[in-house]
Amino acid sequence: MRISVIGCGYLGAVHAASMASLGHEVVGLDVDAEKIAALRARRAPFYEPGLPELLEEADPDLLTWTTDPAAVAGARVHFVCVGTPQMRGELHADLQYVDAALEALMPHLRPGDVVVGKSTVPVGTAERIAEDLAPTGATLIWNPEFLREGFGVHDTLHPDRIVYGLPTDGGVTTAAGEAARALLDEVYATPLAEGIPLVVTDYATAQLVKVAANSFLATKISFINAMAELCEATGADVTALADAIGHDVRIGRRFLNAGLGFGGGCLPKDIRAFMARAGELGVFDALRFLQEVDAVNMRRRVRMVDLAREVCDGSIVGRRIAVLGAAFKPGSDDVRDSPALSVAAQMQLQGAHVTVTDPQAIDNARATWADLRFATTPEEAAAGADVVLLATEWPEYRALGPEALGQVVAHRRILDGRNILDPAAWRAAGWTYRALGRP
Ligand code: UGA
Repeated sequence: MRISVIGCGYLGAVHAASMASLGHEVVGLDVDAEKIAALRARRAPFYEPGLPELLEEADPDLLTWTTDPAAVAGARVHFVCVGTPQMRGELHADLQYVDAALEALMPHLRPGDVVVGKSTVPVGTAERIAEDLAPTGATLIWNPEFLREGFGVHDTLHPDRIVYGLPTDGGVTTAAGEAARALLDEVYATPLAEGIPLVVTDYATAQLVKVAANSFLATKISFINAMAELCEATGADVTALADAIGHDVRIGRRFLNAGLGFGGGCLPKDIRAFMARAGELGVFDALRFLQEVDAVNMRRRVRMVDLAREVCDGSIVGRRIAVLGAAFKPGSDDVRDSPALSVAAQMQLQGAHVTVTDPQAIDNARATWADLRFATTPEEAAAGADVVLLATEWPEYRALGPEALGQVVAHRRILDGRNILDPAAWRAAGWTYRALGRP
């Protein structure tokens, strides 16, 4: 199948390369010439495990990259994978990139083509796009994406589920919708043959599935972080609490890791855009709890700065603080709304001398917070430090030895922002160990 992928970021580049690995002929389109140049040179423009291998192995005739919208002509299925960031000064999602992608695509569509929306959008957007597309004779399918950064290739080729939002008329899928579905089934023939569940629904439900899923994940994280606040007030241990409630399969242990909370380019902006959309629809009350989810999440960052102050006898002014981690989570170089960087910047703004390290995200972090200092290794970052903060749970930080790190710091004080270290081992080596939600 000849397909095009519009938008070659964390989602689109992985989607394009993954579709090519399934044997499709793929052209990836992006307005960013630098990104396209890297992809043409078979280099991943960002850190995503597995993507370099796919780019390397791809048949150059099957996977091409371009900045020229005309190159999408002739493809039968067009995936829209551009970003929908939070609008400046508002909770709403900014749809300018979606609109620009469709404008670029429109002149090249032929009757019978299928446009597949993967970007995360406010419910109602697909309906509007479908109307705009009507004169071209192309059909829109809403096919939300659930990939996690760091597992993008796996999640694209072996997703938990595939969702199709099809055009309906009186609750019944239209004939054009059925024809479009047949084409998308061909694109996904391999994952579908694996038995991956397929949920076929209407536009509104498909759009809601995505934001509902991210809202649920955010709620689960903020739930355990709210419990961490209770643990702090009572001397209880949130990690044992999470283990204990997680044994109940109805609750489950995944996404119950208390700590600095969620960040990244998706969860924070998605719950905010969802609240904004609910307000427009007159059902804000239904999502009022997401305000609390957001507030709990943000309080963790403030609490961590307070904890740093506590271990520094009341003031961080002039103290040297090493922050291990800048990415919003391990396995990624993405620093968008990163809790690690947000806390690092806040401590710096409050007078501390902060040095940040990360295995992958230093360049992106420096571009965002040029005032921070950066080091390439934890040992370098921690040299002479009064406090070390573990902010992103990279495996290499999990494996740090308290004795070895103790040799380079000025004071053995560690803040475990992700609750992954063994407090007993660190305390036995003479460290003051503090964490969120742990005694
Ligand atoms: C998230 C969803 O998990 C994906 O399913 C979705 O497709 C994606 O957003 C998206 O909308 O595009 P991602 O942003 O890559 O994926 O990251 P997650 O793995 O969900 O982690 C989000 C944040 O939650 C990270 O900052 C992580 O550190 C934090 N987190 C996660 C916790 O604080 N505790 C946990 O137990 C789990």
